[in-house]
Amino acid sequence: MPRDVVVVGMGGFGRELLDVVEAHNAAVDERLNVIGIVDDDPSVAKLDRIAARGYRYLGASANVIATHTPVGYILGVGNPNVRRQLAEVFDAAGWHAVSVVHPSASVGSVGVVADGAVVCGGVQLSTNTILGRHVHLNPGAIVGHDARVGDFTSVNPGAIVSGEVVLGIGVLIGAGAVVLQGLTVGANSIVGAAACVTRDVAAGRTVIGIPARPIVLPEESTP
Ligand SMILES: CC(C)(COP(=O)(O)OP(=O)(O)OC[C@H]1O[C@@H](n2cnc3c(N)ncnc32)[C@H](O)[C@@H]1OP(=O)(O)O)[C@@H](O)C(=O)NCCC(=O)NCCS
Repeated sequence: MPRDVVVVGMGGFGRELLDVVEAHNAAVDERLNVIGIVDDDPSVAKLDRIAARGYRYLGASANVIATHTPVGYILGVGNPNVRRQLAEVFDAAGWHAVSVVHPSASVGSVGVVADGAVVCGGVQLSTNTILGRHVHLNPGAIVGHDARVGDFTSVNPGAIVSGEVVLGIGVLIGAGAVVLQGLTVGANSIVGAAACVTRDVAAGRTVIGIPARPIVLPEESTP
């Protein structure tokens, strides 16, 4: 019997997530039944796009939690911090995070994909990797052998996380960025699009460029 879930978020990533769910359902027996979409900031454009695909808008998260029996939930929100806040709310209300993997993703042996993780099409996940809760691996991302990806971290399209890298909680790896092998990127850090990380990144930093260096904020650059 299909497992009932809601998709949280009907922006761009929410709709991409629906593609992942649909492809998953077409490929495996353990289907997911999307009973509707949850979004705290619905716009007419978002509602029209969801309706055009035949999905039902259920309401804002607080309202849906108050009016529905808990089922599964998958977070279709790109921002790691927002995902963390939403997960706290749904978990506290007894809802269960569900993971989904696009059938075109290549998933290596001995891996762990924690609840709520979303693995999009074309991802290459090597052997002995750990994806934490609500990790998002966007289309074409590559995660090397023995890598650890912390809860709520996002790896954006085409980025390469090399072997034995450790990404902390709530990290954002920008599109097309590369993190060289064995490095650690601290919690809540951001690696800019197309950067190449050649040294460990401390928690809470934003780094850009090749080689990646911390972004210099205007107030830091004045003598
Ligand atoms: C690094 C990043 C987080 C910075 O965002 P921000 O704090 O809003 O920074 P700004 O856009 O104000 O840019 C600040 C400066 O950094 C530069 N910059 C921004 N992103 C950069 C990047 N990835 N590489 C090199 N330089 C970059 C800007 O040109 C600007 O330079 P300037 O002050 O000389 O004009 C962001 O640009 C980024 O790369 N995010 C990832 C985006 C991504 O993956 N998108 C795909 C989604 S699917």
